[in-house]
Amino acid sequence: GIIPFIRSISGITMQQATVPQPVSLVATPEGLMVQWPLDETVVYPWFWLRDHGHDPDTLHPVTQQRQLYTAAVAEDITGTDATLDNDTVSVRWADGGESHFPVAFLARWRDTGYPADPAPERILWDAGVIYREDPVVEHDAVMHTDEGLRDWLEQVLLYGFCRVQGVPTTPEATRQLAERVGYLRETLFGAFWDFTADLARADTAYTNLELRPHTDSTYSHDAPGLQLFHCLAFEGTGGESVLVDGFRIAWELERNDPRAYRTLSRVRVPGQYIGDGARLRAERPVFRHDADGKLVQVSFNNYDRAPFRLPDVEMAEFYRALRAFEDLANDPHYQWRYGLRPGEVLLFDNWRTLHGRAAYTGKRRLAGCYLNREDFESRLRVLGRR
Ligand code: OGA
Ligand code: ZN
Repeated sequence: GIIPFIRSISGITMQQATVPQPVSLVATPEGLMVQWPLDETVVYPWFWLRDHGHDPDTLHPVTQQRQLYTAAVAEDITGTDATLDNDTVSVRWADGGESHFPVAFLARWRDTGYPADPAPERILWDAGVIYREDPVVEHDAVMHTDEGLRDWLEQVLLYGFCRVQGVPTTPEATRQLAERVGYLRETLFGAFWDFTADLARADTAYTNLELRPHTDSTYSHDAPGLQLFHCLAFEGTGGESVLVDGFRIAWELERNDPRAYRTLSRVRVPGQYIGDGARLRAERPVFRHDADGKLVQVSFNNYDRAPFRLPDVEMAEFYRALRAFEDLANDPHYQWRYGLRPGEVLLFDNWRTLHGRAAYTGKRRLAGCYLNREDFESRLRVLGRR
């Protein structure tokens, strides 16, 4: 059956709009005990507090870089008392000196954790969903307004891709659009490509053959987070772009073939690039998870898979799982298929969305580039996610 909408939201903790104020501060042997409203009591260990002081000799006020030589702090450093003044908590240390903390900082760290953003909300899609949602923005809005740029990037976060319409059909316009997101990522293809079927590189992209759905750079330890294509010219037949939501396929396998999901999460698949004076190689599982077990990256490129051999039983299970994955990725039920016209750009998440293209005849000219994931994330933070 068709699953209309799958929103995968994990562990979003909303910051309270107003910063709570401490009810009381008590120096205990273990640390500073802060009583927060709603009967919440938090003990901040003394050493952790010393390490996170907001004084200029501990945290540089401009660079926000830690100045403290943490290893020089006594392991048993202890505070004697703490006071609250305006929005600052001051801690006096037993061996002299003071540290200061904004209340908002202590409030932020009432719980343990990492400086994570709210978990990205993804709409996992199949063909039925994505033709209806049709993520698209206008070139001029992206180029001239922060709202337009934010809208574009948020749709990429949500759907794993977003189209741009009305782009002037010049490589300069492609580059300027990409630079709204971040720095172009240089690889052996250069920082910026302008390609056609001329085999200028030892890669199927430089032919007019079909490209089945794949992610790029499985031979790179840090595959580019994003990829941008701009159709500069097309006169011919075929050549439609195909996108597949890799997280949707992962979701499908996890539920209906958990063994395949586990296999693709465990087996490290090597990727390689041989040619153009390079011999690149890297390996990772098709489904890569972070330290908390959350899926963070889907990598799949059957063209660039390097030879490897596992014990027979494991190899057979790997091929079974690969077949399950590829059958889904090549099933039109999971594909967004779209003929890019001159003046249209696709920006997509190369850690989530598989891309491909149909074989074509005639003339087709595409420009594009890779972008780093951290730069994309940074731009979204600076713009302020809604
Ligand atoms: C690529 C690629 C698709 C296309 O260059 O990696 O997948 O539409 N190209 O030409
Ligand atoms: Zn590709």
